[in-house]
Amino acid sequence: MQSSEIRSKFLQFFQSKGHSIIASASLVPENDPTVLFTTAGMHPLVPYLLGQKHPAGTRLVNVQKCVRVQDIEEVGDNRHDTFFEMLGNWSLGDYFKKEAIAWSFEFFSGPKWLGFDPLRIYVSVFEGDADAPRDDESIKIWQEQFKKVNLDAKVAKNIGDQTLGVRIHAYDKSKNWWGPAGQTGPCGPDTEMFYDMKPNGTAPGGHMHEGDVDIYGAVCHPNCDCGRFIEFWNDVFMEYNKTADGTYESLQQKNVDTGMGLERTAMILQGVSDIFATDLFQPIISAIKTEAVNYDVRAARIVADHIRTAVFILGDGVRPSNVERGYVLRRLIRRAVRYGQKIGLPHDFDSRLANVVVEKYRQEYSELLQNQSSITKAIHDEEAKFIKTLERGLKEFERLAASDHVTERLSGYDAFILFSTYGFPLEMTVEMAKEKRIEVDEKGFWEEFQKHQDISRVGTEKKFKGGLADHSRETTRLHTATHLLHAALRKVLGDHVFQKGSNITAERLRFDFSHPEKLTPEEIKAVEDMVNDVISRDLPVSWQEMSFAEAKAKGALGLFESKYGERVKVYSVGDFSKEVCGGPHVNHTVEVGKFKITKEEAVSMGIRRIKAVVL
Ligand code: ALA
Repeated sequence: MQSSEIRSKFLQFFQSKGHSIIASASLVPENDPTVLFTTAGMHPLVPYLLGQKHPAGTRLVNVQKCVRVQDIEEVGDNRHDTFFEMLGNWSLGDYFKKEAIAWSFEFFSGPKWLGFDPLRIYVSVFEGDADAPRDDESIKIWQEQFKKVNLDAKVAKNIGDQTLGVRIHAYDKSKNWWGPAGQTGPCGPDTEMFYDMKPNGTAPGGHMHEGDVDIYGAVCHPNCDCGRFIEFWNDVFMEYNKTADGTYESLQQKNVDTGMGLERTAMILQGVSDIFATDLFQPIISAIKTEAVNYDVRAARIVADHIRTAVFILGDGVRPSNVERGYVLRRLIRRAVRYGQKIGLPHDFDSRLANVVVEKYRQEYSELLQNQSSITKAIHDEEAKFIKTLERGLKEFERLAASDHVTERLSGYDAFILFSTYGFPLEMTVEMAKEKRIEVDEKGFWEEFQKHQDISRVGTEKKFKGGLADHSRETTRLHTATHLLHAALRKVLGDHVFQKGSNITAERLRFDFSHPEKLTPEEIKAVEDMVNDVISRDLPVSWQEMSFAEAKAKGALGLFESKYGERVKVYSVGDFSKEVCGGPHVNHTVEVGKFKITKEEAVSMGIRRIKAVVL
């Protein structure tokens, strides 16, 4: 079964269960300061998980583009990637465990759908602790499902329980809990589904591990890292709210958030042992194979993965830079170039490979096709720039590595010079140093980095992980101010102005938009005055649900295109601004306060950035 069929079957199945199809959101989270990229389907839906009404209803289904870079080092094995598509079905205070699990079972085992042999399926549930009890409810529901196919699913007594028929395994929070780690907000137990890739005639309840020993011991079990069991789906039951004092209280609105990994599911269905052999990666890998001089599996996978991710990030408007998202993108491209060089790929290879990626995904993601030339150009420029500095930098690195004072440790200062002068991402310096058994003072690097940059947040790993948006009063005011700014910019500068990015923290808003040149002081003042004038007129802020086509016809500004004709929410500020948006916003413009632009600068060719505050 090809990946396109898996996507459409998933949507079709859940549509038949009363779900509305919604489009994938951008990889660039809107108005969520806690993450750099959309890392899971839940991100764009956070306001609705917290209780806001979603215009498309209480049952949703989607295919969401996701980027997770915290496992970048793992890329190269059989199942890790930095970009993936997450198939998700959602209940916003509608159905709960019973339906979610039953539908998961029906979809993965039904002959009309994925048709997995239930004998090869293992599931995990939350084992319970002081905060929340063992998820006996899910255990019972799973047992009922397996009963339907005459399987008596037993619960493991301990991790690695070898008893015949054991199919349900319980783990602690580190494995079977989903929610904002260490933060407050909605969260809950989850149940994960695993596929046994190599049933080798041993008892289906487990087997002795053949090689490595994992942290739980020598006996293999579904969460073992050996790769035998592939987790392909996760059903999260958001039934708790973690409060500031660390207690878990029952949530008013109980949600279901599920995530099925498209790449992994394709791997299982296509009977291959790694995601890179699926139809999603196959054309990309074969292009690499054709041109590599000394082909190496791991290097090829890294190039394939990183360029695929870079293409999607570029498709959502990000450009390489030294901060935040732009820095992640730069790292990906540069790492691909470096591994490409290892296997002898030509200098312009990555930009050509980008076309292969676009070709593979153009049907599902029209933004790639629309932006194809600017995507390949950005990769081409970055690879050319990098190759030039790489040659100089490599010499410098060799010199530093050979010199006495760094025989075992490269200082933070040296690593920073390699970064700032030669464009070596820290991670690359660390990798190269490792090859020479040299350690890098990473902490020292970040200290230097902070001394030299006004933005230090690029290094905070927490931004690469999940997290819930902060809908505090300040961010809500800034969010409304962002809509006013967008409308004012279009009135002052012209209709060529479109939002290219938005980021809000509790302190300021940041708004990127298309415009060819620097704003004059007069233009900045005109925009500021117009926004403040609207604020002082105390216009009402209201919203309406409508179809995407209606929203477009009414001239609402909006970032995304719709394939599914779903219903959307349109926020209006009097007759001054109209935008497709999830909210939240203030009710009346005076609540925004006084608006002040603090900075106007270039982001890249044709894109300007404004930072502003409300006082
Ligand atoms: N949010 C859940 C996950 O990412 C479904 O695994």
